[in-house]
Amino acid sequence: MISPDVLDKFISVCERAAYGASKFIGKNDKIAADQAAVDEMRSALNKMDINGRVVIGEGEMDEAPMLFIGEKVGKGKGEDLDIAVDPLEGTNFTAKNLPNAISVLAVTKKGGLLSAPDTYMEKIAIGKDLPKNLVDLDNSVKKNINLLAEAKNTIPEKITACVLKRPRHNKIIKSLEELKVKIKFISDGDVTGVISVVDPNSSVDIYLGIGGGPEGVLAASALNCIGGQMQTRLVLSDNEEINRAKKLGITDLKKKYNIEDMIKGDTIFCATGVTNGEMVNGIIDKGDYFEASSFVLHKSQNLSKKVTNKIKK
Ligand code: FBP
Repeated sequence: MISPDVLDKFISVCERAAYGASKFIGKNDKIAADQAAVDEMRSALNKMDINGRVVIGEGEMDEAPMLFIGEKVGKGKGEDLDIAVDPLEGTNFTAKNLPNAISVLAVTKKGGLLSAPDTYMEKIAIGKDLPKNLVDLDNSVKKNINLLAEAKNTIPEKITACVLKRPRHNKIIKSLEELKVKIKFISDGDVTGVISVVDPNSSVDIYLGIGGGPEGVLAASALNCIGGQMQTRLVLSDNEEINRAKKLGITDLKKKYNIEDMIKGDTIFCATGVTNGEMVNGIIDKGDYFEASSFVLHKSQNLSKKVTNKIKK
């Protein structure tokens, strides 16, 4: 199990990243916002007494100057941990001062996280207390919705599906419309979108569509702590992406991953709000300190909590 002693430190890491990004809320500069979050997160991680390795990061070594896949973080002493980071999930949200921008990370013991390339990923996710492997990426949308409606003892018209609004999802959207499913469109931020299937305050029953691979593994980490089901498959669109996947040790390029194929063992998940959102509130600047709200999960402690901390700048 991951020592509970490091939990608060990882929350601080996320809080610092969110604070960094918050300086760029509404400044119409998503690159600067992301960079500020990365800088803060990296510097906070490197102050920790851990032997950490970034497994899901800002990209591969040659394309990301910081927090790249394989980067060592921490002081190099302490627990051997694998870390998935998305210092700013919702760069557009931050740049445009829109809700739901968060800083996110997930932690496992060494070897616990799927080393996925920074490519797209197909995703399907449903909530808790449903028959195992109920839905499948290879089923039609109609079949998945009908199976879900039946398991929930309801009808497709009463099901809500969360979908990222992108032209690539037009076929999925058309099928959902034909079934009269209620659609909750999101313009970005599918980590929150996927997690909404297990959020008791949300009406979302199913998440469907293609989004970022790193975001997929991060969302799966949260579901690994709180329950729910998720299946994913990498979308590798050219030889370059195929080679990147192979370099990370992926041999079966068409593999469908369930949560346990992406995350093994004890897991910490933390998301801190940059702007106000459905999961958490955003950063509030109070002058010489700031307030940060986080959604925190630690699997082995069966812990799920929302915390708001006051942090000195
Ligand atoms: P960024 O914060 O890195 O911009 O990602 C936002 C996001 O909406 C993710 O939540 C999602 O997985 C991905 O982008 C979708 O990618 P695209 O915008 O290329 O469709």
